[in-house]
Order: sequence, then structure tokens, then C-alpha cells
Amino acid sequence: MSLLSSLKGKGPTGFGYGSTAEQVTEGLDLSGKRYLVTGVSSGLGAETARVLALRGATVVGLARSQEKADAAVASLGHEAVGVACELADPASVRAAVGTVLEGDTLDGIIANAGIMALPKLQQAHGYELQFFTNHIGHFLLVTGLLGHLRDGARVVMLSSAAHQMAPQGGIEFENLSGERAYTGWRAYGQAKLSNLLFARELSRRLEGSGKTANAVHPGVIATNLGRHMNPLMNVGMAVANPLFMKSIPEGAATQVYVAVHPDAASVSGEYWADCNLKGSSAYGRDLGLATRLWERSEAIAAEV
Ligand SMILES: NC(=O)c1ccc[n+]([C@@H]2O[C@H](COP(=O)([O-])OP(=O)(O)OC[C@H]3O[C@@H](n4cnc5c(N)ncnc54)[C@H](OP(=O)(O)O)[C@@H]3O)[C@@H](O)[C@H]2O)c1
Repeated sequence: MSLLSSLKGKGPTGFGYGSTAEQVTEGLDLSGKRYLVTGVSSGLGAETARVLALRGATVVGLARSQEKADAAVASLGHEAVGVACELADPASVRAAVGTVLEGDTLDGIIANAGIMALPKLQQAHGYELQFFTNHIGHFLLVTGLLGHLRDGARVVMLSSAAHQMAPQGGIEFENLSGERAYTGWRAYGQAKLSNLLFARELSRRLEGSGKTANAVHPGVIATNLGRHMNPLMNVGMAVANPLFMKSIPEGAATQVYVAVHPDAASVSGEYWADCNLKGSSAYGRDLGLATRLWERSEAIAAEV
């Protein structure tokens, strides 16, 4: 727990900056529930899976390879299932969808996996890699599983406060290759804005179904996500950690709260931080942009 965690109060939900995933699920019995979590091999995904399993849920844990997925779910107990899913490889994502469809239906999807601030432009299928991994990979996965969601199911997309670093216009539809004026943070901002807009548009498409879709900012937490940051920033993070940053159990709290807490059951199309509703950037509220991104993502999905 950082100094800030101990100073910041709670919000209207009764939870806040310093709440942990265990605290937001205290007293909940999730037996019989089944949740898919991506990026289960590290950081917030591993903690999310651990706490869901602790409360009795079955976890379908996705990681880049079968070995990583199996290792990640090995300690989760009873019925946890590991599935390989390399988000930058559409064939792998489609195979994962096929595997998940063979199993029982889902009460929720926590689209947690991600990469951040790649210093040099990298691409998959001609698209900038953070956009492709964080957004297109999850677009293929989640849309492939929509028919496999139980009544009341919840989709939770990991966005970030960094969605505010997205380029002018929000999404550079004419530069999704990233080749024009690439910077790692701007590309990450665009990818995280895409995760947020995906949740908004999915929520609109789920209207009347009883199913929900939301996006979350987990906080700033020292995890493997920082592996591509420049060393100076990592030194800054190490200094800031005990003062301002969240621990991993605190960082996983918002996504777990939105995925399972009864008070969040009927909230949809929102952006959350610190286990409470939060305003997003203007681009993050732009429903026209969300629809345009969805349509473009469908076109990319058809092409890759
Ligand atoms: N930590 C923060 O401060 C922070 C702040 C805002 C938002 N977020 C968001 O929170 C989410 C979780 O991040 P984290 O902090 O827990 O980071 P992390 O420890 O690096 O975990 C990221 C997970 O995503 C997986 N992953 C990365 N690329 C993948 C790919 N191509 N295919 C499949 N899985 C892939 C990683 O697998 P490998 O281990 O195999 O690479 C890992 O399991 C991310 O979406 C991130 O953008 C984090």
C-alpha cells in the first residue's frame, strides 16, 4: 500500500483507490460462475484470476502459449482451464475462441492482456502492434464469444488513463499502420482509447440483453507492463511506487469489482477507476467514433 492509498478516501460504491480485489469481493460466493481472463500469466490478470478462484469461480485463463496458460491456472484449484491465445495472431485467437466454445458458457470476460509503449514501431498484419494486440486481438476474441455469454454476463475491457494520450482525432483511421510520426505512448493511448470505445459500442449493441460492457482504468501499478519503458522512467516509477502507486491487489480491484460485484450488475457503457465511475476524455465519450471504430475493426477482422 502506498502513502496515497492510505490517504485517499472511498467513493460512492464504498470502495476506492486503496481497495483490493479481495476486499471488493469479500463475502461474495462465485461458485457456479465462470469467467474468462486474458493476460492471466502476469500482473493484474494473475491477481484477478486468483481472487475470482478464491471466491469459488471457475477461471478460463488465457495466455500467449498453452504452457504459460497451464502454469498460470495450475495454482487456481479445482476447475480452472488454461487456453493458449496469442492476441497478435488472429489464427491463435480464433483457435482460442473455438476451444472456449467447447466448454461451458461464461458469466464474464475480463479483457486484461496488453502491451505498452513499444519504443520502436512494430506491426502485425500491417497494423501497429499495440492497436492490433490490445484492441483487434480482443475484438476478435470478445465478438467471437458473444453468443457464449450467460444472462447477466459482463464484459470488462482494460483501458487506461493513458487513453487521453491518443492522437488528435482519437483514432488515426488513415494511419493504423503507425508509420506516420510513431511514438510509443501515442500509439498506446490510441490502443487504450480503442479498448474504451469498444466497451461503449458493445454496451450499445448489448442494450436490452441484460448483458453489460464497461471499461476500466486500474491505476498505476508496477508490473511487467513497464518492460518497454525507458530505464529512466522505470527509476522514476521505483521512486514513486511507495508514495503514489497502487499495489497489484489494489490494481486488480476495479476490474474485479465491475466484473462481479452485485452493485455493478446493471451498469453498462461506463468508464471506471478506483472502483467507481469516472469521466473519460471527450474522444472516450464519442459514440460516433465508437461506431466507426467497430465498423473498421470488423473490416480488419475480415481481412486478417
Ligand atoms: N500496470 C499499470 O499501471 C496499468 C495502467 C493502466 C492500464 N493497465 C492495463 O492493465 C492491463 C494488465 O496490465 P499489467 O499491468 O498486469 O501488465 P503485465 O504484467 O505486463 O501483464 C500483461 C499480460 O498481457 C499478456 N500479453 C501481452 N501481450 C500479449 C499477446 N500478444 N497475447 C496474449 N497475451 C499478451 C502478458 O503475457 P506475457 O507475460 O506472456 O507477455 C501478460 O500476461 C493491460 O491491458 C494494461 O494496458 C495497466
